[in-house]
Amino acid sequence: MTSVVLGVTGGIAAYKAVELLRLLRESGIDVTVVPTQSALRFVGEPTWSALSGKPVATDVWTDAHQVPHVALGQGADLVLIAPATADFLARAAHGMASDLLTNVLLTARCPVIVAPAMHTEMWQHPATSANVATLRARGVIVVEPSVGRLTGTDTGPGRLPDPARLVELALDVLRDQVRRTADLTGADLTGADLTGVRAVVSVGGTREPWDDVRFLGNRSSGKQGFAIVRSALTRGAEVTVVVGHVDEPVPAGCAVIEAATAEDMRQAMHAAVADIDPHVVIMAAAVADFRPARGATGKITKESLGEDPTAVPEVLLERTTDVLVELVSKRGSAPGPVIVGFAAEAPGEGEALGDRAMAKLQRKGCDLVVANAITGGAVFGQDATNVLIVGADGVVTEVANASKAQAAHALWDTLSRLIAARR
Ligand code: CTP
Repeated sequence: MTSVVLGVTGGIAAYKAVELLRLLRESGIDVTVVPTQSALRFVGEPTWSALSGKPVATDVWTDAHQVPHVALGQGADLVLIAPATADFLARAAHGMASDLLTNVLLTARCPVIVAPAMHTEMWQHPATSANVATLRARGVIVVEPSVGRLTGTDTGPGRLPDPARLVELALDVLRDQVRRTADLTGADLTGADLTGVRAVVSVGGTREPWDDVRFLGNRSSGKQGFAIVRSALTRGAEVTVVVGHVDEPVPAGCAVIEAATAEDMRQAMHAAVADIDPHVVIMAAAVADFRPARGATGKITKESLGEDPTAVPEVLLERTTDVLVELVSKRGSAPGPVIVGFAAEAPGEGEALGDRAMAKLQRKGCDLVVANAITGGAVFGQDATNVLIVGADGVVTEVANASKAQAAHALWDTLSRLIAARR
């Protein structure tokens, strides 16, 4: 049975870890809860032991004959610490062994996910940033806190992400262990293989306002984009998502910038690239190619069209800016980030998808194109996919009859080789 150590430290969000514990148990996982002393001031020992079905200890002296400070870390398939306080991050970054949880961290050789939650000032303090950077450099997956209401009336980054999203990340990481164990390349299982990689990924569809009620949109669900984000997070990358309209919640662990229209997405992508200096930029979003040239304010009514009962309004469209092309041209001749475009193609009779993808790659000047055929409504909103990953170097990888997660991993396998070549 898969075994997870759930570390809980002393922040108000400890109450959300109760839900986390329940969800992990409902997923058939054996969970040992290791709270810190201060966590028990927020949620008591009986709650943790009753819901995990196991005794709970905070120090290394309880049941010392079983040497829990070594056995727990060694036996775990995953250590998940949620919420993690600033104090805990500091102790973990310095390798301290002052309680059972920090001992577990030092003995664990499995993936470690840390989900910090604290006030914005504490999260943004240079001391905390340095501790987070240290942990990330060691291959720990440090989840970006969510932005929103904090303990008092204040808002900002510092919230613990939704427990359901954290469990999703934990299950992704556990699945990734199985994938990498099966991979005969002999990947190092203790550290995530995209550690230190920064990525900016656009996801979802844009909506171009026609009036204050109506818009021109598209059928992008965000599924493939989020699969790419999730696989990057599970492999240790730092991901900023520029998100348009999507049908699914944003995965836990990434920084999020919302962008409703093509123009919002353009500005958000340029800002994120300038801020983050990423190794990879992925334009997975379905950005509108055209938008109403004159967006009306209010609502276009039938009445406003006059007496004729058959009268309809005319919508004049204009081209939007191609964000991908702009990102490529801004990069110029400097090595810069690896830039990936997507191509949803409807190849005609006798036309090959790969040829269309290569033509699009050359037209846009990017390094990779992920292409799929949209003939017959395939792909949008579905869980399964068929993609071709086409490189500027002519290397083509086909991922057929696969889940969007498998396609995402194949993309990151290609990307990690391209990033390594540029470093
Ligand atoms: N894209 C973009 N900005 C736009 C339109 C598209 O950055 N205004 C990006 C998409 O995110 C995708 C890639 O360009 O990565 C290809 O989009 P697609 O619509 O398939 O290609 P286009 O050449 O824009 O249009 P089409 O082939 O439909 O004429």
